[in-house]
Amino acid sequence: MITLTVNGKAHRLDVPEDMPLLWALRDELELPGTKFGCGVAQCGACTVHVDGVATRACATPVGSLETGAKITTIEAIGATAQGKALQTAWLEVDVMQCGYCQAGQIMSAAALLQSTPKPTDDDIDAAMEGNLCRCATYKRIREAIKSAAGMALTDTREA
Ligand code: FES
Ligand code: FES
Repeated sequence: MITLTVNGKAHRLDVPEDMPLLWALRDELELPGTKFGCGVAQCGACTVHVDGVATRACATPVGSLETGAKITTIEAIGATAQGKALQTAWLEVDVMQCGYCQAGQIMSAAALLQSTPKPTDDDIDAAMEGNLCRCATYKRIREAIKSAAGMALTDTREA
């Protein structure tokens, strides 16, 4: 039996220890906001927070998590100041195209703003480089992160 604390609530799951956290979230806890992309920690679509750290749920066996680890998913990130600011900025900047990668993008951005409230372009690029977007919304993602951080928008690079 595995105990997971997800979005502030403890759950006891009868699942194998090697089950990826992604499947525990989506299939056992019915939290489908976290997406499956590559399955091998290369695309970032499955990003969640484990104790505030951006973590690839597809490559995290549930049995590897510390007892008491706090997992946060896209379904609850709006309850944090950074997450709420990002979700508002995402809509203002109109970041999304197909939307598939965007839950993971917001989770990585929220972890960045929690540790670095006023990130530089280099900070943003380093934090977000593992989150791929097949629709190439990268420029708008940078703009939205800066907007959420209350910073002037200076990035003029094409995505
Ligand atoms: S699905 Fe986890 S990183 Fe791609
Ligand atoms: S918005 Fe389509 S994959 Fe990023």
